[in-house]
Amino acid sequence: MTDDELLNAARAVREKAHCPYSGFHVGAAILDENGHIHVGCNVENAAYSNVSCAEAGAISAMVAAGGKRIVTIAVAGGDENKTRACTPCGGCRQRIHEFSDENTRIIVKDDDEDWHAYTMDELLPSSFHL
Ligand code: THU
Repeated sequence: MTDDELLNAARAVREKAHCPYSGFHVGAAILDENGHIHVGCNVENAAYSNVSCAEAGAISAMVAAGGKRIVTIAVAGGDENKTRACTPCGGCRQRIHEFSDENTRIIVKDDDEDWHAYTMDELLPSSFHL
């Protein structure tokens, strides 16, 4: 599974987003330690605070399938027509952190070939651990 294939999986599931309130579509695709792929999209709700982010959906799918580690997570966001490089929100950084290690990569890419790969420590320095 290449980074491009994982990004394409994020883009594909982004099409399924339920986001009638923000119009901001997000897809996330995780490659786990077993080489399996898990995807999620954002799901909004008329009671706005009940939104579920794409990353949260992908993480739930990974955990339900028995995955324990995020090797790479690709995130694609944007409006209906265009993918933007979309870094995970603050809450999702902590969610990803729970299943990451120093080698975990978070990759984002837009439709214009702009490419970024981050480590967890870059996105969430001095992070909270129990
Ligand atoms: N969203 C995500 O799914 N993931 C993020 O990391 C950023 C935000 C969603 C939540 C909401 O449905 C929409 O994007 C606008 O904030």
